[in-house]
This record gives sequence, structure tokens and C-alpha cells, in this order.
Amino acid sequence: PSPVVLVTGGAGYIGSHACKALARAGYVPVTYDNLSTGWQDAVKFGPFEQGELTDADRLAEVFAKHRPVAVMHFAALSQVGESMEKPGLYWRNNVAGSLTLIEAAVAAGCLDFVFSSTCATYGDQDGVVLDENSAQHPINAYGASKRAIEDMLANFGVSHGLRHVIFRYFNVAGADPDGEVGEFHRPETHLVPLMLDAIDGKRPALTIFGTDYDTPDGTCVRDYVHVCDLVDAHILGLRWLRDGHPSRVFNLGTGTGFSVREVVDASAGVTNRPVPVVEGQRRPGDCTRLVSGSSRARSELGWAPERSQMRTMIADAWQWHQHGHYDR
Ligand code: UFG
Repeated sequence: PSPVVLVTGGAGYIGSHACKALARAGYVPVTYDNLSTGWQDAVKFGPFEQGELTDADRLAEVFAKHRPVAVMHFAALSQVGESMEKPGLYWRNNVAGSLTLIEAAVAAGCLDFVFSSTCATYGDQDGVVLDENSAQHPINAYGASKRAIEDMLANFGVSHGLRHVIFRYFNVAGADPDGEVGEFHRPETHLVPLMLDAIDGKRPALTIFGTDYDTPDGTCVRDYVHVCDLVDAHILGLRWLRDGHPSRVFNLGTGTGFSVREVVDASAGVTNRPVPVVEGQRRPGDCTRLVSGSSRARSELGWAPERSQMRTMIADAWQWHQHGHYDR
């Protein structure tokens, strides 16, 4: 039988793309999700188990039923702004939830663990090249919650033999080019889908959050990676663990920064429509510049991003925006 991987957050944006990649790679992805921000319609590539991360009994039941060989842990609250308003929510759901999940995995003897972390754990370090050894000084509760889980994984490794691959994502964009799954957040807070909403009139305009940053055009700079390239790295990370390599941290970014204005400009060549733009205030918790300075994922995992050109990411997101949606 095909090996099972437990995918928490498999009904969400990145998790659903990961389930598709896992199924293609010969695994059975079992989605564990509370549907708080995910969509049951996005669970298309394996079984679905509804449950809370903080529910130890439910997790034990799911581990016993499916006997996964590994966990891919995507489930998390992930909005920087919300995390500044409600830090308790982030510490309870992300940190306490992950602790419950990790304990359940260890109790079930499932010791290979792939974790979604974030470049938000580095914080605002303008001028510093961000590689995996950079200091981590998160400036928002979201980043702090992810850093705490990274520490937890290291501790459980020493004491219980849990082995991890931690991926620190930069900014994820794009969608499955086949249109089976895509990005669909309610409420939406991410730049690319909000820009597409503004282009087709679903919103009056895109507000640019801050034009007085210390960057060439005054807007924030981010390193964008296509969701399909991102989940491909997860398959390589899973193999890394199953081949017996030691726990390891990898940045996932392409090393190229785009300002908000550059993203807006790049859409013109894809949609052939103007973007109505309004210049607004800075958003609390935003870093000036987050760009990966590491090629570790390429050199050690053999990761080779294929669709992470800005034009391709916007084109794939635009296709999903026009034709894809979930009802439930
Ligand atoms: N932005 C705007 N207007 C908008 C939305 C976003 O100008 O309406 C700007 C933001 O200020 C930022 C950039 O576009 O400079 C990207 O913003 P996103 O909200 O799309 O992404 P973030 O960089 O804030 O956050 C994302 C994920 C986090 C992750 C982080 C790491 O949401 O989970 O990337 O950088 F931690």
C-alpha cells in the first residue's frame, strides 16, 4: 500500500497544493483540518478528517486509523495584522495546537515531521542577507508563534527522536496551473489576489500599504515563490527525512525581491488591464524587505523552482481568479 502522510491544513491554500503533489508522488495525503479558514471542496486528493489541532483525543484517533509515516504541518493562523490585534489566538492555535500535534505524532511513533515556518521569524533586518543561520527576531506575534514551534521541534528531536525539515517560506503566490486548487481566503489579505480583485472590479482599488519605506520606490519588497514550486520542495524534504538525513532548516524563496509597485506593474503584461491603486498608510507589523539570501534548498535538496517568475505566478493566479472558487 502507498505510504500515508498526515497533512494538517490540507484544506487550505498551500496544504491543498501539497496534497496534490503528494498524491502525484505516490503518497496518500490525509487532510486534518478544522475548516476555520480552509475549504472542504479543496480536499480532492485523499481522505478528509475534520478536527482541531488542540484536540489530543481526535488526533490520537486519526493517527491510529491512518498510520501515517510522516506529518506535513501547514495548519496555522497566518495573518500578520490579526496576530498583532489578537496575539493570544496565535499562541493558542499555532503554538499550543502544534504542541498537541507533535505529542500525538511522537506517541504514535510517527517521527518524520515537515513544518511550514516563515521568513517572518527573521523580522526586519534590512541590509542583512537572510540565510538559515540569520538571527531570528520576529516583529509580530505570527512570526513569534512560528519561531516557538521551531524551538519545540528541536527539543522534541533531542528528547524523543522526532526528525524535522523546517521550511521558512517567503511570499507564496500563484495557483495550480490545472485549476484544480487555488488561493481563496476569506477575508483576503494577500497582495496578488487583492490586486486581481481590483483589476476585475470586485474591489474598488488596491491600497498600497506605505510608500515611504527605505526601498527604491518606497514600497515594501518581498521574495515571491510559486505555490507549486514551494510544495515540490516539501516532497523533496519528505524524501530527505525518509532517506535518513538529519533535521534541517531550509529557506524557500528565489532570492529576487519585488516591490509592491513592481508586482502591480508586472500584472499589466498578463491581464492587459489597469490596476486601480490608492496609496495608503503602512500596515502594522510589515517588514521593509524580506528576500532570501540562501540557495541551501537548491544545493542540498536539489530544489529547482520552475514557475516562480512573477509573470507566471500572476498568470496562474489570474486563471484561478477567473475560473476557480470553492462553495464550502
Ligand atoms: N500589500 C499592500 N496592499 C494590500 C496587501 C498587501 O500594499 O492590500 C503589501 C504588504 O504591505 C506587503 C506586500 O504587499 O508589503 C505583501 O503582503 P502580503 O499580505 O501579501 O504578504 P506578507 O508579506 O504580509 O505576508 C505573507 C504571509 C505571511 C508570511 C509572510 C512572510 O501572509 O504568512 O508573507 O513575508 F509570514
